[in-house]
Amino acid sequence: MTKSMSAPELLLSLLVLMLSSLFLSSVLLAQSPPPLLLGTAWYPEQWPESRWDADLALMRQAGVHMVRVGEFAWSRMEPEEGHYDLDWLDRAITAAGKYNIFVVLGTPTAAPPAWLTQKYPETLRVSEDGRRAQHGNRQHFNWANPKYREMARKIADQMAKRFGHNPYVIGWQIDNEYAEVSFDPETRAQFEQWLKARYGTLDNLNARWTTAYWSQTYTAWDQIPIQVGYGNPGLLLCWMRFVSDTWRSYQRNQLDAIRANSDPFQFITTNTMGWFDGYDHYTVEQDLDMAAWDDYVGEGHLDPVRNGATHDLTRGFRQKNFWVIETQPGFVNWADINNSLDKGEVRAMAWHDVGHGADAVSYWQWRSALNGQEQYHGTLVGSDGTPVPLYAEVAEVGKEFEKAGPVLAGTSVKSEVAILHSYDSRWAIQWQKHNNKYNPQDEIVSYYGPLRAIAQSVDIIPPTVSLTGYKLVVAPGLNVLSDAAAKNLISYVEGGGHLVLGQRSGMKDDDNSLQPERQPGPLESLLGGRVEQYYALTQPVPIEGKWGSGESQLWAELLSTKDGAEVLMRYGKSNGWLDGQPAAITRRVGKGRITYIGAWLDPKAMAEAAKWMTEDSGVKPAFGPVPSGVEVSPRYGAHSVVYVLINFSGAPQTISLPAAMGDVLEGGSKTVVTLANYGVAVLSLPVSR
Ligand code: GAL
Repeated sequence: MTKSMSAPELLLSLLVLMLSSLFLSSVLLAQSPPPLLLGTAWYPEQWPESRWDADLALMRQAGVHMVRVGEFAWSRMEPEEGHYDLDWLDRAITAAGKYNIFVVLGTPTAAPPAWLTQKYPETLRVSEDGRRAQHGNRQHFNWANPKYREMARKIADQMAKRFGHNPYVIGWQIDNEYAEVSFDPETRAQFEQWLKARYGTLDNLNARWTTAYWSQTYTAWDQIPIQVGYGNPGLLLCWMRFVSDTWRSYQRNQLDAIRANSDPFQFITTNTMGWFDGYDHYTVEQDLDMAAWDDYVGEGHLDPVRNGATHDLTRGFRQKNFWVIETQPGFVNWADINNSLDKGEVRAMAWHDVGHGADAVSYWQWRSALNGQEQYHGTLVGSDGTPVPLYAEVAEVGKEFEKAGPVLAGTSVKSEVAILHSYDSRWAIQWQKHNNKYNPQDEIVSYYGPLRAIAQSVDIIPPTVSLTGYKLVVAPGLNVLSDAAAKNLISYVEGGGHLVLGQRSGMKDDDNSLQPERQPGPLESLLGGRVEQYYALTQPVPIEGKWGSGESQLWAELLSTKDGAEVLMRYGKSNGWLDGQPAAITRRVGKGRITYIGAWLDPKAMAEAAKWMTEDSGVKPAFGPVPSGVEVSPRYGAHSVVYVLINFSGAPQTISLPAAMGDVLEGGSKTVVTLANYGVAVLSLPVSR
């Protein structure tokens, strides 16, 4: 580069000089990372080293304390086979450390180099129609291929040996957004082995999958096809479980290398994609220290209910605080319309993340590569290396995180209400929707919204974890009910809990076979009722009862009762079959209760149902009344509860606090706060002992 410096570049150089002397002291001291981290994805390999200081100085000025580095840099780390060059990465980490910026190292295995895939073409994945992927994009590797695993292990091992004890490296991200699988013959052979391990004999497999149907009976293991989307439901479910187990072992391969060579203070995570269901996240996440996800709005604006549910889903992977390891700086480049979030919305979104249990918020990305597929994506500095307009708002978040971090340190989310979620059930419904508009994720959110509005905190967890301590457990669409899950639910109700089952629950067993009993299968006698018939709807059906009058949309299940079960709602006049029949029923079981809702409730009826469920179960709002459109999220610590309040209502709102609280961002004690649209308050209430 021979051109002379522009005015912004000059200013920037001055700033670098000032800040480098200011942070000189931290060169020698590896402090511990702040408890609440603002971060960004930084790709030092894309820029001359002479530029690094300027970037890091600007980051530091914005309150950035974490950079995620390396996750696509394999060709720089291993320019040819077995020839590793990690010196530049070491220098980048040291440079970041000078600015008291800590590093999360990404293993680069989502983007194998061209020499690798050329030399070992079997490491490229094969699509369902038999085509091998080419070089030039990412995620072109074959996750099941032994050679690929060997190469991935070696690079992870090299990185861990070099940086596993570096005090500025606080954690590891394995790969990037696991997603693409392979249908090559070798993977298929592995699937056969997987099936053998699960079923032992073909007779057993044939019986469990009812292969007498359509002459599917298998007499040799290699006759079994791979089916996705349409096929035998048992086979479809097994393939997805094999995919999940294979992602787990793919991850394990690198994770073991990192664990063996790193200090325990370095966490290991991977970045997930919200509700993405390409594998069972509970299977894969069990080996990680922490969950982390990539939170993108795409087109439109932040929907606090949907996004809140996604945070809570992610928190449920490890049932503890998580990271938002990627989020959009204003806009993305992959939606239909890549509009920007409004002024103030990015800050509100960052606090929304924290309210739901995130301990870090990291922007993707710092600066666009000059070339490459994502030139139009939002960034914090422009291609000239100087701040874009959003930088100032992110810097405000940075300052606030520095201020609020010590108050939020050690706090976590606790809820009285849990929603149960399972990948098996979502897949099973998606493969046989029966009503094309039926979306199991929408069903979960339809319950989540009103329950969250009342309880002000909700967990989303799998059906096999301990439910003790929850006052209310809601299972919308728990279609596949394993014996273990059924046992867990029965003991929850018998122990005094209130279980609410939504539509399509308890229909299938662990092999995706129909249960031999009607829905809800093994819970039928506990419920004292069952589903006599289900109906996909072309028109909403009226409903009426304890929750007022409303309608069932998309789906209606005709219920019956016995053994003291009570009818809560009935269908009105519709197809004749449903007319006057039970739509929701409930039964007391000792101190506990079980309820079944056979209708897809419209929003008003759902709000009433949520009110009834929470009141009956003794669920209390975590904070107290707030104006509609204001979201409140509590985080509990040993000495205080911290409430994050965000105004998403579109107009200013005044909130009276249930007690005097410390205003963490503005200082002082408050009994009332007024928030502009997208305004945020972080309030702290000491816990009385
Ligand atoms: C993520 C991905 C990043 C970047 C980003 C753009 O899914 O992990 O590498 O591509 O999307 O929005």
